[in-house]
Amino acid sequence: MAVEYQNSSYGERGYADKREESYSRGGYNSGGGSWGGSRDNRGSWGGNYGSGSRASTPTEPLGEVDWSKKELTPFQKDFYTESSIVRDMTQHDVEDFRKEHQIVVQGRHAPKPIPTFEASGFPKSVLEELTAAGFPSPTPVQCQAWPIAMKGHDLISIAATGSGKTLAFLLPGIVHIQAQPRLLRGDGPIGLVLAPTRELACQILVECEKFGRSSGIRAVCCYGGVPKGQQARDLRYGAEIVIATPGRLIDFLEFGTTNLHRVTYLVLDEADRMLDMGFEPQVRKICSQIRPDRQSLFFSATWPKEVQALARELCKEDPVQITIGSAGKKANEKINQNIIVCEEAEKLDRLKTLMETVLDGNSKVIIFAETKRGTDSLQRTLKASGIAALGIHGDKTQQERDWTLHQFKSGRCMVLIATDVASRGLDVKDITCVINYDFPKEIESYIHRIGRTARGTASGTAYSLFTRDNAGMAFDLIKILNDCKQKVPAELEALNTRRPAQNNSRWGNGRGGSWGGSWGGANRGGNWGGNRGGNWGGNRGGYQSNRW
Ligand SMILES: Nc1ncnc2c1ncn2[C@@H]1O[C@H](COP(=O)(O)OP(=O)(O)OP(=O)(O)O)[C@@H](O)[C@H]1O
Ligand SMILES: [Mg+2]
Repeated sequence: MAVEYQNSSYGERGYADKREESYSRGGYNSGGGSWGGSRDNRGSWGGNYGSGSRASTPTEPLGEVDWSKKELTPFQKDFYTESSIVRDMTQHDVEDFRKEHQIVVQGRHAPKPIPTFEASGFPKSVLEELTAAGFPSPTPVQCQAWPIAMKGHDLISIAATGSGKTLAFLLPGIVHIQAQPRLLRGDGPIGLVLAPTRELACQILVECEKFGRSSGIRAVCCYGGVPKGQQARDLRYGAEIVIATPGRLIDFLEFGTTNLHRVTYLVLDEADRMLDMGFEPQVRKICSQIRPDRQSLFFSATWPKEVQALARELCKEDPVQITIGSAGKKANEKINQNIIVCEEAEKLDRLKTLMETVLDGNSKVIIFAETKRGTDSLQRTLKASGIAALGIHGDKTQQERDWTLHQFKSGRCMVLIATDVASRGLDVKDITCVINYDFPKEIESYIHRIGRTARGTASGTAYSLFTRDNAGMAFDLIKILNDCKQKVPAELEALNTRRPAQNNSRWGNGRGGSWGGSWGGANRGGNWGGNRGGNWGGNRGGYQSNRW
């Protein structure tokens, strides 16, 4: 899946006749020639490039690269010049601005935030795209992430769902890529974005095409579940930016279809998901193939402690961390969150009643279920009640998944039932309501799921059915509801048996005071230790499970 921008200009830049056949060994020389050897190792592949069948031929596994022995060509990564409006901001102004937009910065080298698109230093073509998109001003995460990324710093950026993180990493990436020497034959990408799901990778590609078009940047998306042939051809043709799910990218690296020798701008979107136990080995493998002095950027709405050390390990320098809102584990404040405490047996009736109130012909609704089977069963039940809904989960073919998402995006189908495969990153206009039919097993999932509504400048509503089986999640949920000034039902408080800890909380500072009245009762504290392990450790690995 690739889009060619400005074909003619690619001709000038030397792309036009570089179909895969001409990518055979020997013609490869990337900035200083230090890669010649490794390319030669794949000599036997030369003549086969371009045949679709090659994608199924096994090749050598990815070896460790000894970067200390490589001669690394210096590259430029600081493109930032303060505009006069930013230069004139006093320290006091900066503090006021950050306070107003709830921007918290940790790290020594953070530049001041930028208040306007013009102050970003982006090329005119990119600024024109922003105007054309009709965006009124940069979002808080963009205000602060753009100058940091443009300055070339490693960055960890935590901001609510729907707050514009995609452009926060894509636009500085476009500037970075444009400033590098052009790709030569056999070169892999300069920018690499890793994402956890196929649909999210495709969505980032679309955003990249929209904003990179006028900069002449070629983007390719690599993801599993579809034949490799076209993606392989697009990669060999050459692309400045690759957006990929880890598994498919590793396949291509092992087949020698592409390489990461030129990557100097690396992004992990949904970074906590990419660094958790499910993806960590693959991400490490990919990162080991990239020069260690690359610029690394991590983006997510949630940032559990468990992944923080690994993120820092992947950075060359001490990264700047920005957090928009409190503690980095906060739901989007524009979502009206409703918790319905009920019995398991009541859930279907509750859902049907809810659907009668939320479906108005214009509103798109997404319903999350825990399992693939549960998703299918809900789809049948709703159909029997006269509600047309489509389902998306990991057992559907990619063709079905794409078709379903397309039907939902285009408004041909207004109700989507999904597992967590659709919980992260997806940006579908006009989802006014998210329903958690099954409450998720991790609080991060709750934040991401309900975050499918209230995107950009919109607001939205979420309903979550909560049973006593979910009691272990009550503590974390109450914290989120309180943080967002949402109503906490008494029934939910009653199910909560944990007490706030002072220092050992996953939330950082225990903030015990705000929990006041709800901690009385015989169970006080009794479940803390046990539930911690149960809800957290156990389910981290659960991402890998087959359930969704
Ligand atoms: N400056 C802006 N002003 C208004 N809308 C914007 C702005 N920047 C981006 N958007 C829009 O906001 C929506 C959400 O953006 P995006 O998908 O990047 O959110 P996100 O922060 O990555 O969310 P998630 O955590 O769910 O992945 C998109 O439709 C995007 O086009
Ligand atoms: Mg996103």
